[in-house]
Amino acid sequence: MREPAYKIDLPHVYSGKVRDIYDAGDNRYLMVTSDRISAFDVVMNEPVPNKGRVLMAMSAFWFEHLSEIGASHLISTDMADFPEQAQRPELAGRTMLVHKAEMLPIECIVRGYITGSAWKEYQRSGTMHGEALPTGMQESEQLPEPVFTPSTKAEDGLHDENISFDAAADLVGTELANQCRDLALSLYTAGRDHAAERGIIIADTKFEFGFVNGQLAVADEVLTPDSSRFWPADQWMPGSTPPSFDKQPVRDHLDTLDWDKTPPPPTLPESVVQASAARYVEGYERITGKSFADWPG
Ligand SMILES: Nc1ncnc2c1ncn2[C@@H]1O[C@H](COP(=O)(O)OP(=O)(O)OP(=O)(O)O)[C@@H](O)[C@H]1O
Ligand SMILES: [Mg+2]
Repeated sequence: MREPAYKIDLPHVYSGKVRDIYDAGDNRYLMVTSDRISAFDVVMNEPVPNKGRVLMAMSAFWFEHLSEIGASHLISTDMADFPEQAQRPELAGRTMLVHKAEMLPIECIVRGYITGSAWKEYQRSGTMHGEALPTGMQESEQLPEPVFTPSTKAEDGLHDENISFDAAADLVGTELANQCRDLALSLYTAGRDHAAERGIIIADTKFEFGFVNGQLAVADEVLTPDSSRFWPADQWMPGSTPPSFDKQPVRDHLDTLDWDKTPPPPTLPESVVQASAARYVEGYERITGKSFADWPG
């Protein structure tokens, strides 16, 4: 397993591409969001300064904003509530105490616009996650209405696979798949509407749900630039893909290289890292209307 970015004297449960998870006792996890950045599912060598704090700040904003739509795993982002071993200044603003969730084996994606892997599939077969779509759609066009398009949850290093609603129902049961769809669509719609007022299009997003005390809850991160595509509304034009508020500078740079998108990753120039860092902060400030300077850490 990957080495955690911050070693904490608690049992280390898991390190994903971005987050390090520790057991905080009493059925709780401590999730630390690192500055690691992944592109094409490969973690880069260079951290993006403050990225983990921005993702955390944004998730915290949405958990609060969306709390009436669904329960979440969040207990606290306040260091005073953390186990003593985690009360360290370098963890401030990038750490949350959460309920341990029994995670579902699917990723709950919602697409409001057709782009990325969905656009590729549509070009190939006129479908999206196996379901038919109107003909003649253009890249980045808004879908007639948001669609729940689940995927499998691949092991580290592998790519998730887009699946149909029926395939998701085979994995988790029809009733739960329906519940996931309803929750994901409600969360997405509320988030999309909020962002639209601030000039940002949330083109698509991925939620991860799990059971907390028998109740379906939103876990992981929510509506961040890592789990979603945020586009500046004034740069959106169907027929092309707008730049997004996130690792776009990193992706653009990687596209100029002859790299096969498998580890080891190439070295990122400092200017690319800084440009990406600035975009994360700008996305946060536009969405929340808050200054990132006021976020702890
Ligand atoms: N409350 C929770 N309880 C249990 N697991 C959680 C909870 N919230 C998030 N997770 C899991 O923790 C991990 C977060 O780590 P991270 O986002 O870095 O992983 P990832 O690289 O995106 O995904 P992968 O799991 O494929 O490594 C995810 O596997 C996510 O499903
Ligand atoms: Mg993740």
